[in-house]
Amino acid sequence: MGNNQKKKNKKGLKTIAIHHGKSYADETGCVMPPIFATSTFEHGNKANFDYTRSGNPNFSILENVLKGIENSNYCTVFSSGISAVTAIVSSLKSGDIILCESNLYGCTIRMFEKIFRKFGIQTSYFDFTNKEYIQQISKVKPSLIWLESPTNPLLKILNLKEICSEANSRKIPVVVDNTFCTAVIQKPLELGATLSLISTTKFINGHSDALGGAVITNDESWNNKMIFSQKSLGLNPSPFDCWLITRGLKTLPLRIAQQTENAHFIANELNSHKLIDQLIYPFNKNHPQFELAKSQMKIGGSMITLKLKLNKNDTFNFCKKLEYFSLAESLGGVESLICHPTTMSHASVDKEVKNTLGINDSLVRLSIGCEDVKDLLSDLLLALDSF
Ligand SMILES: Cc1ncc(COP(=O)(O)O)c(C=O)c1O
Repeated sequence: MGNNQKKKNKKGLKTIAIHHGKSYADETGCVMPPIFATSTFEHGNKANFDYTRSGNPNFSILENVLKGIENSNYCTVFSSGISAVTAIVSSLKSGDIILCESNLYGCTIRMFEKIFRKFGIQTSYFDFTNKEYIQQISKVKPSLIWLESPTNPLLKILNLKEICSEANSRKIPVVVDNTFCTAVIQKPLELGATLSLISTTKFINGHSDALGGAVITNDESWNNKMIFSQKSLGLNPSPFDCWLITRGLKTLPLRIAQQTENAHFIANELNSHKLIDQLIYPFNKNHPQFELAKSQMKIGGSMITLKLKLNKNDTFNFCKKLEYFSLAESLGGVESLICHPTTMSHASVDKEVKNTLGINDSLVRLSIGCEDVKDLLSDLLLALDSF
């Protein structure tokens, strides 16, 4: 065997997702890690844990997998995606400005406007699909840039590489909320972001039975800020939730592949339905940023947004007629869900802002699950054709 053949392969993402490494239970040889249901640790223990608000083996195991799949140096886990947002924003100071993509998850905006604004942190919103964001950065002089791509719920695709490069040249850190993609579809740090934020409640866990969040970075000083926020603000997750999420993560690549295949099929089939004004799916040729999506994302993902030719009442009736899509908050699980953003995920956003963005009563967001695609499609068609 030649020297090259002896070299170990670089591990693939599916392998990293399954082999989490150290389980902190060396003496037992257990294949799955136990749940370390302990609030405190005896002083001087070998692994250096002290108190679960600032670390626990189940946190470390999950952090290890998350940083592994993003190919990065650091990860800190939190009790929810929103806790991860809190950890980042609380690291800023009064007078700092966050320049945000205009279409963000509603509760992220609520946190900025209803909580942190009181403490002097300001925000400015801009449509980052518009090239003039470059002038906007110069004008606003932000301390942080906050992006999502695809955005929730309009699935706009932002040119992360270009935006991060502009920001990096001015030494402005960029947060990319990667909840809709995960590292299986895109790796924000490799595109130049400083922080990759993820609600692990969604695709990472994939079974709608736990809440969690994480911040992943290669920047040591940001990592220190995340560790500090976790313990000083009490943003830590529970060991049990980390255990569930670690288990869910093992099938992430398989689930996302199946969900995306289903979503692709459904998007193609529904594209020209007479009751649909607009079908938004990143890998649909009609998507305004189709070419960018194709170059930035490995696959199209499993989120589809529909603008229906129905009023509010009938949009709700449509949702309720579905058998396999529960009308519920959240996304990314093995089961399909439908959400009415204007009254659910984005209920807290000002009506005027929603109207400007196009988040109206006729808009629904589908999270396509792992069910048989023909069942999902016939469910959607039966409901659509009943009007
Ligand atoms: C894009 C995005 N970011 C963050 C969050 C917040 O995550 P969590 O519900 O885990 O707090 C959500 C929740 O829907 C989301 O869609």
